Formats: sequence, structure tokens, C-alpha cells
Amino acid sequence: MKPNVLSKLGQRTAVPPISWLMQTALTRPRLISLAAGFTDNSTLPVEISRKLLNDILRSPKTGRPALQYGITAGETNLRALTAKHLQKLDGANSAGKGHSPSRVMITGGSQQLLYMTLEALCDEGDIILVEDPTYFVFLSILQSRGIKARGVKLERDGIDLAHLEKVLERLNKSGELRRVKALYLVTYFQNPTGATTSLAKKSAALKLLKKFGRVAGHPLYLLEDAAYRELSFSGGDDLPVSQAGQQLRPATPPTALTLPGAAERVIYTGTYSKPYAPGARVGFGILPEPLFTTVQRIKGNHDFGTANLLQQLLAGALSSGLYDKHVAKVQKNYARKSRVMKSALADHFPASVEIWESGGGLYFWARLPEGISAGVKSRVFQTALKNDVLYVPGELCYADDPSRAKPDNEMRISFGSASGENIRKGIARLGNVLKKFL
Ligand SMILES: Cc1ncc(COP(=O)(O)O)c(C=O)c1O
Repeated sequence: MKPNVLSKLGQRTAVPPISWLMQTALTRPRLISLAAGFTDNSTLPVEISRKLLNDILRSPKTGRPALQYGITAGETNLRALTAKHLQKLDGANSAGKGHSPSRVMITGGSQQLLYMTLEALCDEGDIILVEDPTYFVFLSILQSRGIKARGVKLERDGIDLAHLEKVLERLNKSGELRRVKALYLVTYFQNPTGATTSLAKKSAALKLLKKFGRVAGHPLYLLEDAAYRELSFSGGDDLPVSQAGQQLRPATPPTALTLPGAAERVIYTGTYSKPYAPGARVGFGILPEPLFTTVQRIKGNHDFGTANLLQQLLAGALSSGLYDKHVAKVQKNYARKSRVMKSALADHFPASVEIWESGGGLYFWARLPEGISAGVKSRVFQTALKNDVLYVPGELCYADDPSRAKPDNEMRISFGSASGENIRKGIARLGNVLKKFL
């Protein structure tokens, strides 16, 4: 074999599918991209951020600490505010050990937390169970690090528990259970399908992981990714609020952090990117020991702390109440855009296409009849491109799992970044393409 200067990881790391999709969108000005997972430009919090940054930089006393390096695990105030924020989202009765600020780590987006967690947990050849389909950038990390992904079927209210048990039993029989480290679930308005996992399912999954963890001889973690949690259409101003200003019912099911035993088995990741600003790129994780300590050391090597100024910006937004107000506005905007897409889909898509509609997030999931491919090489995708409309082929969201063929008849369609007018036009173009093939 020819010598290669690159590491095994360097050689193995494939071009992320997302770069190609973004590049295509950028180089074709007429193209309407319903592919990007970008947030809506028009609601990005420019005025709020200007005010908060002005407050931080108003004097050397407040400005200098923000412009200095900080602490690896994150700014103390933001860790406490994040813990409090999660408690509020999980409902007043669910405050438990799971939300302690000492277990919160602030990261450069939740993506960094996902990457570092995999670095801390997995060697080459280890196995992570994922929803089938799942977040494709997570699959890219697994591919790059030589970690195997095994798919668990997804239903509209989360993973198929019977299938999870079957997969764990199969891995036990084949002697691979000891290589399994975690089950990764995107639990709210999932990327790509929009599905939300009920608390009952999270609880049952955690029980199964505990049971099989005893056989494996080490914990099997539940890695809960709640990136879209705050983009609920039933949140914001519509939520009943008590006289004291307390939320009376959570807009979304509580996290797995509220379940018994969570403090030992649940890794939780969340982000301020989607509800506030991806350009500020602040995310967070809640980790059990020994993972917290290990990931903190790894983060020490990555960057020894997320940008302090951005952490202080988020801390200011949360503590002033401006964050909550902003999120309510964002939720209303996405709810409206989702309605625009829903009505365009009803007008233009053939009735034989099954549509998954979500109560939040940025996506619709469309399933074409069996046998009609919507994959990257398919005539549907190529014709869509020719007609200047882009979607994410669903096949990109399926793990390389040899136990099943990858479905290729699905598409993820986003209403995140396109304007209302472009949503209508884009869906009309895509509908016309589909009519040629169905
Ligand atoms: C499911 C999911 N998790 C995590 C992320 C990473 O987001 P960030 O790093 O901005 O927090 C994304 C971004 O699109 C996502 O879709």
C-alpha cells in the first residue's frame, strides 16, 4: 500500500453530504433550497444581541472578563441559567438531580458535545444505536471515527421499542453487545422526520438499556439530543402561565433527565443555536460521571472553553427574559411557515405521497410510494435539481447497517430558511416533478 501522510481517521473521513448540498444551493441563484437546516434569517435577534453586547461592553469592568479566556466547562452563570431553563422546560415537578448546574457543560454548539462524547465513549469498531433515519451529520461523525451504527426503526412517536429489544438481543447473540455504548435519539421534532419521542418511550428505552447494560458489563447510555426542543408550535404565547409567571404545562414532553436513574445513564444535549442564533453557536450538555470529567478533559484539549463573549451574550439573554420573548416570536414564525408548507403540500403533492407533519422544528418528511427512488442519483432528485428545487434525499439519513437495505423513497423538506413565497414556489416545483414520476 502507498504510504499516506494522513491518519486513519483523516483518510476515512468522507465528504460530509451537507457540504455538497450547501455548495449546490450557493452556486445556483435561481434554486430554491428546501434542504438546508438553516434557521430563518428574518427572526435572527439583531437588536436584542446589540443591546446585550452593549451592556457587556459598556465598561472595562464588565467587558474585560467577557473578552478573556474562561473556564473549560463554561461560564458559571450560564451553567446555572441553563440548568434553571431546563428545569422550567421540564415542568416544575421534575426538578431533580438530573438538572444540577455542576453537571452542565457549555460547548461550541451541541455538535461539539456530540463529537466529544463519542471521543470519550467509543473506540474504532464500537457500536452506537441510532434511529432509522437519524441526523446525518451524527452519522458522518460515526463514519469518520470508524464507529458502527445500527438502526432502530422509527415510528411517529419515537423508536420502535420491540425492534430496539430485537436489535439488542441480536447483538447479544452475536457477541457484539459489549461493543454497544449508547442509543442516540433526537427526541423533539426530529431531524429528519419531525417525530417526537414520548416520555413513556424514553422510559421504556432506558429500562431496556439498563437490562442489556447488565449483560454487557458496562452502562449503555441514552444519548438524548434535544436540538429542536424549543421550536414547538404550541409554545410561546399560547402556553398557559400562572400569576407568578410560571409555566403551567410544558410545551413538550419532559426529557429523559426526569426519569429515575437518569443521573447515571442519560447524556443530554441541547442548543441555543436553533432558538436564538446559530451564529452565536452556544450549546450545552448534561453528562453523568465518569463522562463529565472525561469530556471536560477532552474539551480542555479541543479549545479549553467556549468563546466567553458568546456565553455572556446568552447569559444576558436568559437572565433578562429577552430570550423567552424571542423564542416565543420564533415559534410563531415557524408555526406560520409550517402552515404555509402544509397547505402547499396539499395543493401540489400527489395524494400517494405520505407526509409526516410535525408539531415543531423545521421539517416535513415525505415518503413516496415503494419503488420510487428519491435518492441522490434518482431521476426524481436530478429532475428536481434541473427545475431549481433542492431537498435532502432521505437515504442520507440512514446508517450503513448491513442488516437492512437503506430506504431511498423519502425526502426531508425544510421550511426553516426559505421565505413563505419560496416555500410555496418550491413545493409547487417539487410537486410538478413528482407528478411526472407517480
Ligand atoms: C439533531 C441535531 N443535533 C445537533 C445539531 C447541531 O447544532 P448546534 O451545533 O448548532 O447546536 C443539529 C444541527 O442542525 C441537529 O439537527
